[in-house]
Amino acid sequence: MTTTNATIQSELAQAARDFDSHLSAWVDQWAANRIAPQLVEAMRYSLLVGGKRLRPVLALWSCAACGSDSSSAISAAFAIECIHTFSLIHDDLPALDDDDLRRGQPTCHKKFGEATAILAGDGLLTLAFEALASAKLPAERVVALTRELSDATGPAGMIGGEWLDLDAEGKDLDEDDVQRIHTLKTARLIRSACRLGGTCAGASREQLNALSGYGKSLGLAFQIADDVLDVEGDPARMGKRTNKDNARGKPTYPAAVGVEKSKTIMRDLAKAAEEHLSVFGPEANRLRALARYVIERAA
Ligand code: IPE
Ligand code: IPE
Ligand code: MG
Ligand code: MG
Ligand code: MG
Repeated sequence: MTTTNATIQSELAQAARDFDSHLSAWVDQWAANRIAPQLVEAMRYSLLVGGKRLRPVLALWSCAACGSDSSSAISAAFAIECIHTFSLIHDDLPALDDDDLRRGQPTCHKKFGEATAILAGDGLLTLAFEALASAKLPAERVVALTRELSDATGPAGMIGGEWLDLDAEGKDLDEDDVQRIHTLKTARLIRSACRLGGTCAGASREQLNALSGYGKSLGLAFQIADDVLDVEGDPARMGKRTNKDNARGKPTYPAAVGVEKSKTIMRDLAKAAEEHLSVFGPEANRLRALARYVIERAA
């Protein structure tokens, strides 16, 4: 049976709520040791203020698709959300995209000042690896998780992509250039969320390859949707400002190929994402439905 968009929307919302309650309990645990209270407050604020929780849910559902209980991936889910939140705090800084609104609230640097925001991002980056190191999993899986997340986050992953994104501002780029930037700055972490979940479950090579292909296509589709929503979206629904990319000369799909072609590419990628899951049975149905759902908001 195909899962409808309304069903997956409520399943995602429920999974995000469940994740949030585990996340806030975990945050309370480490925040009890408040050596630098305002820094901890800034980290808590950005992490707990909201967000769709797409990446942790992908980790949990990918773990389940590989036949394990999703609770085996909870530490990986904390880790990927810490990395993602770190990337948002730094992405919003004046030296990067210079944004004042995130997740419907003032950005971290607007609320706590720039120095604290920089350090809060650093703190979350570090905390992600503490989460992995504390995972109750066999040591060789923890090593594989650490390798995966550091590759996806670092200069050959999201951080490298963020640098390329800044370097490209104001330049006239073609589709291939933008694809390369988006694949690094966004798809690499989304792919990693899926691979982390699979690794927690002890996935076979075939399953991990399938999750990689799915995550990469979904991640690129997701960033194209974000680009399209910057042009056409409702800022109140998105919790961040719109019409910023064009003003800053950002490398986006609409700038490279126009809005309509961007939507076509995005839909094709979502289909391709689903097709990568053919090695799985019905246990991957939520991942399939998610691929259709995440682009729906921009289609
Ligand atoms: C925003 O990610 C940054 C992009 C990669 C487009 P999300 O749209 O997943 O942000 P939250 O976590 O829901 O706030
Ligand atoms: C963000 O891309 C990618 C990250 C690594 C954070 P954007 O700069 O388009 O994300 P938004 O639009 O600020 O959320
Ligand atoms: Mg950016
Ligand atoms: Mg930005
Ligand atoms: Mg954007």
